Amino acid sequence: SLSNEELQSRIQKVRDEMGSKLLILGHHYQQDEVVAQADLLGDSYQLSQMAANSSDCRVIAFCGVHFMAETADILANRPEKLEERAGQRVQVILPDMAAGCSMADMAAIDQIEDAWDQLGEVLDTEDITPVTYINSAASLKAFVGRHGGIVCTSSNAQAAIEWAFARRSRVMFFPDQHLGRNTAMGMGITLDKMPVWDPFAEELGGNTAEALEQSKVILWKGHCSVHQVFRPEHVDLFRKQHPGIKILVHPECPREVFELADEYGSTGKIIRTVEAAPPGTKWAIGTELHLVNRLKQEHPEQEVHFLSPVVCMCATMYRIDLAHLCWSLENMLAGTPVNIIDVDEETARWSLVALERMLEVN
Ligand code: 13P
Ligand code: SF4
Repeated sequence: SLSNEELQSRIQKVRDEMGSKLLILGHHYQQDEVVAQADLLGDSYQLSQMAANSSDCRVIAFCGVHFMAETADILANRPEKLEERAGQRVQVILPDMAAGCSMADMAAIDQIEDAWDQLGEVLDTEDITPVTYINSAASLKAFVGRHGGIVCTSSNAQAAIEWAFARRSRVMFFPDQHLGRNTAMGMGITLDKMPVWDPFAEELGGNTAEALEQSKVILWKGHCSVHQVFRPEHVDLFRKQHPGIKILVHPECPREVFELADEYGSTGKIIRTVEAAPPGTKWAIGTELHLVNRLKQEHPEQEVHFLSPVVCMCATMYRIDLAHLCWSLENMLAGTPVNIIDVDEETARWSLVALERMLEVN
């Protein structure tokens, strides 16, 4: 296998040849050598905006996970952009097709449709706004678009839920129960009004008709396996061992951890929060390991800890490496493209409706 130096120089060759026609986007959870290759880095919301605003590029190599590449394809190839480029499509490449998201996989479109049908037996679904976290397949975004709903990210979940309540009296939020619960509780909605829908339950997602009737936000039984390793005991331990430490977490963390935190936010917000803090600030950060380690390196004037004794990283984000990036870029240049993410037209059209609402509320 090739060394990193060789891979870097081969990637550089592709860059030299393609110039501004190639845009490499990277999520903050990517490994350092991939981050070093990215033209632009961001959280999920920022990456959506970058794809939506991309102008002269013809290829986006997406260093992140599958749902992000799908979103980039939908936004970069929306009708007004295609018109601007005289019909030329932007090809979105995901360097490794196995880079999925286990949370996104916890809600399949047939499960969502089945839940919606079952809800229709006890509630008026015309009065429920579906809200999908961006960490979901394009088919779910299309479902949400068709049913008057909206997509949200971790940076605009409250704005999206407010948008939803301005239209209808209930919200169904999927797939991440933690982001849904943390956000709704921040808006004053109590737990007794937040039943959780289990797609594997016999009927009504494991709820009584009564519980659903009094619901405000129906949560989905999904979670991020990376963020669920953070526990309240870890917060207690850090507070005991490092007086004055600040706990900074991603809202995908479970409620018990989230409610003990001093600050929270998307990956982009986490970075801005550390950047804005005075030297000597102590942090225990509850989010993916690669990002926390990078913050540790980039801010030696502060004291950055990872908020768990258990090392946890996002195994699917980690699948993207220089070898896969190089291989997919060289194939693109050779005219034998691999790993193209191409959302079908009908799905893209309805997903776009829900994504444009997301971009408008924030
Ligand atoms: P953000 O970068 O939008 O905070 O998302 C975090 C995440 O888990 C991405 O999968
Ligand atoms: Fe999915 Fe969690 Fe990985 Fe993000 S960190 S891609 S939510 S599994």
